[in-house]
Formats: sequence, structure tokens, C-alpha cells
Amino acid sequence: MTPSGDHHGSIGVFDSGIGGLSVANAICGLLPQESMLYVADNAHAPYGARTDAEVIDYSRLVTDFLLAAGSRLIVVACNTATSVAIDALRTEYTEVPFVGLEPAVKPAASGRYVGVMATAVTLRSARYLDLKARYLSNRPVWEDPCVGLVPLIEAHGTGSPVVRSYLEELLAPAGELDTLVLGCTHYPLIVEDIRGVVGEAVNVIDPSGAAARQVQRLLERRGLVEERAAGMARYDFHCTGGPAPLQRTLWQLPELNAGRRWVVPYLALNER
Ligand code: DGL
Repeated sequence: MTPSGDHHGSIGVFDSGIGGLSVANAICGLLPQESMLYVADNAHAPYGARTDAEVIDYSRLVTDFLLAAGSRLIVVACNTATSVAIDALRTEYTEVPFVGLEPAVKPAASGRYVGVMATAVTLRSARYLDLKARYLSNRPVWEDPCVGLVPLIEAHGTGSPVVRSYLEELLAPAGELDTLVLGCTHYPLIVEDIRGVVGEAVNVIDPSGAAARQVQRLLERRGLVEERAAGMARYDFHCTGGPAPLQRTLWQLPELNAGRRWVVPYLALNER
């Protein structure tokens, strides 16, 4: 695999598709001076329907690509990959700081009846089960692997009647939730559709902002903060499958769209 251009010092961000853009958008808003290199591994999506071993393998491939291109910090902007692969990545790439995304169960701990939307891989992972036991043990929790929702978001994005009717059917049996954790980075992209179904009174938790602040903390702690002027940052977005979902979504995200410094070339990752 060959990275196009020089991305030396960039923040590397990856997901199985467009979901990680919710995190990339938050990073861009908080750290506008930082360049970013994004990979949507949509040739292998959805990760949530894969085995743990496959998700670990794809995560390695993408990490190799980002590091070869010059990224100095990697954001695993995917709850699914974080839940099964981030420990392996941290063990194998000891010099590299990683930021992962986990279902925001801790901030949900004040809820009386909490819902968690996440993929099957995330919901069965030891990381999630530990978090749930620690923060949500003494109350009812509704959770659903949302089978088929990620491909719908990739294909249609926000505001689509197909996504809306999926959500209505999905959330009807949940009953009167007061808190809903978005445990997959694709879901913040349809947060308005979700709010439209559950109602404004429900506390919908999107972890993108917290992840961006964690990136900032790590960069500061390691003395890796970029000094360049904000307008000089460079963003590149690669996909391993078709570019349409990335192109459509980049236009819709305010922080990323503001700079319009992105391109979406095709990326072929060689299996190893
Ligand atoms: N955005 C991913 C996550 O946060 C995706 C899921 C998938 O590919 O199934 O879990």
C-alpha cells in the first residue's frame, strides 16, 4: 500500500467507513492547526458483522498505512475496532499513542433507564461488558446490535426516510429511555434522526467531543502539538471502497466542510 503525498506529523484517524468522521469533525473543531489523514475501510465494512480476528487484522493494515504515511498519533475512531483491537495495536506499536472510542457508559451512569446502541462485536466485547458492570450494574439497560444500520447510514446518511423507519422500529421496544449511548461512531451522524424518534427529553450521549479532548491531552502530554497556523493544516480522506459516502458526508460536517481542504482518493490495502 502506498500513501499518497506527505502526511508527516498528521493525526491518523480510521473507521470502517464514514462513522469516524463524527470524531474527525470534533478534532478539526478543537485542533484546527492539526493535519489529519483519514481512512474509511469500507471495503471491509461493516466491522460489526466481522469476527474479532478480522477486525484486528484490518485495524493492523490501516495502522500500518497511517504510520507509513507519517501519522504521529492514531485515533481508532470506531468503537468496534477499539473494543477488540486497540490492546493488540498498543502492544504491537509501542511508540505510537492511540486514542480509542468506547461506548460512553460512564457519563450515562446517572441515567435511570439507559439504552446502548452499538455493534454486535462491541456489545459482546470484554471491554464493554466490564464498563457495563462497573457503571450500569444496578439498573435496567436496553441494548441492541442495530444489525444493518451502519450500511444504511453509509448508503443514505441523515434525513433519509429509510433510516428514520429503521430507527422507529428499532427503538419502539426500548420504551421510555432517559439516556441513550451512541456506541458506534456512525450514529452521531444521524443524531437528529435519533432525537426525532426518542424525543428531546432523552439524554443522547455522543462521545466525539470527549475523544477530541483526549487527542488534545495526549498531544500536549507528549509535546506533539503542531505550531502551524490553522489554515495551513492538511486533511486527506481515503477509502478502500467507493468514495460516495465520504464525499457526501464531508459536505455535511461543519468543521470539516469549512476548510474544504480534502480529497478522497481510492486506497487499496494489501492483505497480509
Ligand atoms: N463506526 C463503527 C463503530 O464505531 C462501525 C461499525 C461497523 O463497521 O460495523 O463501531
